Amino acid sequence: MHPLLVKGESRGGDLHDLTLQLTRYFRQLDRYYVANGLVEIVVGEHEGVGYYIVKEPELTPDEAKLYRELLEELRYRAKPDRLLLLDPMKYLEEKLREVVGELEIASRVYSSRSKLLYYLKRDLLAFGPLEPLIEDPEIEDISIEGINKPARVFHRRFSAYDWLYTNIVFREEEELNNYLIKLAHMGGKHVSVAYPIAEVMLPGKHRATITFAREVTPHGPSLTIRKFREKPLTICHLVSFNTISSLMAAYWWLLLENKAFLMIIGPMASGKTTLLNSLAMLLKPTWKVVSIEDVAELNLLHLGWKPLVSRHTYLIGENLTEINLFDLVKLSFRERADFIIVGEVRGEEAYALFQAAASGHGCACTFHSSNFESMVERLTSPPLNVGAGYIDLISNVVVVKRIAKSKRHAIRRVTEVDEVKSYDQYVKLFTWNPTEDNFTPDDPYELMDKSLELRRIMESTGISEDELLAELLERKNFIDSLVKNGVLDFEDVYSHLRSFYYRRTSAHER
Ligand SMILES: Nc1ncnc2c1ncn2[C@@H]1O[C@H](COP(=O)(O)OP(=O)(O)O)[C@@H](O)[C@H]1O
Ligand SMILES: [Mg+2]
Repeated sequence: MHPLLVKGESRGGDLHDLTLQLTRYFRQLDRYYVANGLVEIVVGEHEGVGYYIVKEPELTPDEAKLYRELLEELRYRAKPDRLLLLDPMKYLEEKLREVVGELEIASRVYSSRSKLLYYLKRDLLAFGPLEPLIEDPEIEDISIEGINKPARVFHRRFSAYDWLYTNIVFREEEELNNYLIKLAHMGGKHVSVAYPIAEVMLPGKHRATITFAREVTPHGPSLTIRKFREKPLTICHLVSFNTISSLMAAYWWLLLENKAFLMIIGPMASGKTTLLNSLAMLLKPTWKVVSIEDVAELNLLHLGWKPLVSRHTYLIGENLTEINLFDLVKLSFRERADFIIVGEVRGEEAYALFQAAASGHGCACTFHSSNFESMVERLTSPPLNVGAGYIDLISNVVVVKRIAKSKRHAIRRVTEVDEVKSYDQYVKLFTWNPTEDNFTPDDPYELMDKSLELRRIMESTGISEDELLAELLERKNFIDSLVKNGVLDFEDVYSHLRSFYYRRTSAHER
């Protein structure tokens, strides 16, 4: 088991040594608490490298002894029990009370209760030594690259330092292997020398990629956890960060409602998936929305949302068929979906998605590419093989970029929105002006004049220019007022959107 943090005992070179080494030149950037205030987090920098120091509650030697006794007792006592399934924390608390009573240590344990419970939960129910990282909502990814290498984390606010080094180190290969077996089991999978790779969905929807022993990773067992963000950023966040303008958002909203085909492109980690998710939130609440992903990242609250996630098999002789994105896009054809979202297009599923768009589905996806030309180039070459004649099915190409303002500060901007005429012709509709950090056009009238897609909507629905302009303005004002009133949060924005749609349906019925 990973060592406890006990006062006066050295942990053999991890927390104490690292902290000691760092104290002199360490520049503290932030300090806060997670896990109900029990774990202190210190983020700092030393010679350009970022550190994330976890300080779990310290146990006195007495408490540590007691903890080990408790753990033994609980292991011995834990029996299948309804409460264990329904509310494991409550079960632990009850067992703790029982054991404490019997061992006649009630007075000793009282003051240490919360600390002991923390460790019991950590080691019996949760993620063991990585628990603080899972508990910290600002940590996005966790990586362990082998034995004797500090676990590293990606911190939402300190991404300018890339991966931060933590003071959590697995020193023994066996310990890490056992830990990974436990994680795999938590996700209902198994890893072993025979099957050394696993992709696992952990409790809390966190996604883990595990490699076991040294079968494929010469540096030793490894682990990557991509944490699930419970509350994704909303369109209002993105407007408030100036990643997009409210006019853009209103424009996309109209396009989506008219079953357009949006391609969001940009380099890795530029914010494509985030923008896609926030736009998907605008889709009509009554629609059936099918999303298709290799890794489950999208998060919507639509009742009619049906996420499909591909299934990979790595194992020779494994008794499962591989289900890839292409299979799922084909499946979605028979879903009578109003809107199909593909998280990230990378292979032959591109072709299927274009067919979905051709058959009248609304579609949106992200794609790794830096501009219109390179996107078309990749789409029309093997292995994607989308015919050049299909490219004009795309209504909008949205280019997202992460722009480093300084060494320590980056912003994300939609730098361009293109309307597509053909595979080699497009109109730059919106552009971002780096000097003023604003977007053109910012005038709805100018947008109406310039946009081919809005004209197409008028033609296909028969609504007049004035009506469409009124729609555009209403939606822009709606978003502006949410942002102005600080309504940014996932659930709040959803609830306002629902009333937006409700008001319109009831007005329509009158
Ligand atoms: N507009 C934004 N402002 C701030 N952070 C963002 C923004 N868009 C995305 N992020 C963050 O950047 C990281 C990468 O975003 P993601 O959407 O997954 O990128 P991509 O899909 O392009 O790889 C995530 O942690 C996300 O929370
Ligand atoms: Mg993505």
